[in-house]
Amino acid sequence: MNRILLFLLFCHVSTPVQHSLKFDYTASSGVKNIPDFVVVVFVDEVPVGHCDSIGMKVEAKLDWAQKLLDDDREHLMWYTDRCLFHLHSYKELTDRLNKIGAVHTFQRMEGCEWDNETGEDNGFAQIGQDGEDFIAFDPKTLTWIAQKPEADYFKHIWDSNRFNNEVWKNDLNQRFPDFLKRYLDLGKSYLLRTDLPSVSLLQKTRSSPVSCFATGFYPNRADIFWRKDGEELHEDVELGEILPNHDGSFQMNVDLNLSSVTSEDWRRYECVFHLSGVKDDIITKLDKTVIKTNCDSPTGPVIGGVIGLLLLLAVCITGVFMWRRRKNGEGQQWT
Ligand SMILES: *[C@@H]1O[C@H](CO)[C@@H](O)[C@H](O)[C@H]1NC(C)=O
Ligand SMILES: *[C@@H]1O[C@H](CO)[C@@H](O)[C@H](O)[C@H]1NC(C)=O
Repeated sequence: MNRILLFLLFCHVSTPVQHSLKFDYTASSGVKNIPDFVVVVFVDEVPVGHCDSIGMKVEAKLDWAQKLLDDDREHLMWYTDRCLFHLHSYKELTDRLNKIGAVHTFQRMEGCEWDNETGEDNGFAQIGQDGEDFIAFDPKTLTWIAQKPEADYFKHIWDSNRFNNEVWKNDLNQRFPDFLKRYLDLGKSYLLRTDLPSVSLLQKTRSSPVSCFATGFYPNRADIFWRKDGEELHEDVELGEILPNHDGSFQMNVDLNLSSVTSEDWRRYECVFHLSGVKDDIITKLDKTVIKTNCDSPTGPVIGGVIGLLLLLAVCITGVFMWRRRKNGEGQQWT
């Protein structure tokens, strides 16, 4: 009886799909080969547009987004104004930091999420410091939430700017959800597609954990795990984050530490990759002969190098993330 009920429940649960729109602003000073100011627009974590302090103009990254900008001048103007306005306000800040020779990066994220089944949407605006939350806007109360003691100063100034906060509220509750739905509709053949990844087993040395590595999947709603005798493992595994590839697809990995497993027991293990909306999982049996390693396969060092480079990049990007408390009167430039 219970089992039937469970089965019925399971069959009727359709997974809600959260879509998202995100504007990601990064300002830095003194970081070589990186523009001082970059804005990237993401839809469902896919970069669709870009503007930076070198190009000084809004550029689409995908054909359908370019068509939107070509067809709708008003939309293009909105982006251009926003980009140039923020570029100038950040430039003042980074120029000052350059003078004292400091390397700093600031980040700001804003946008919205939309659940396509319930129709519910949630706007967000967040400013970071040292790779950590600094201050966020609450569109319900029209106030700022200080997430660090140093942010109290900015909360005080910004809370009293009623007009600005009304603009924020309108952007988060109205404008961004409208944009998101429009992009999803225009880019649906691209954004709503499903691509399966290639999955491989990688090992640095004979004694390191075995990494199950899936790359090339889309969308970024996926799951990867190790199974022993059909049961999901929670011990001796390390799950990596979903990371973007340059071609708009995603990658992720899960590592399994086999140091206490005898070789006869290896066949009891398998790696499972599940992509949201796709019925069949990709199952890869743990088998010594298919593992790519640095020691005896020519592709090993290349793959190891690429993963190493990606990790290094991720560390660098979060590592340079800094915030400087600004003096009186400079609090307005973020909003
Ligand atoms: C939500 O999105 C999923 C996947 O794109 C789709 O299958 C489903 O029909 C959508 N639901 C609604 C109510 O639009
Ligand atoms: C694997 O597990 C063993 C003991 O179970 C531990 O000593 C070792 O540090 C682990 N290796 C890694 C890379 O976590």
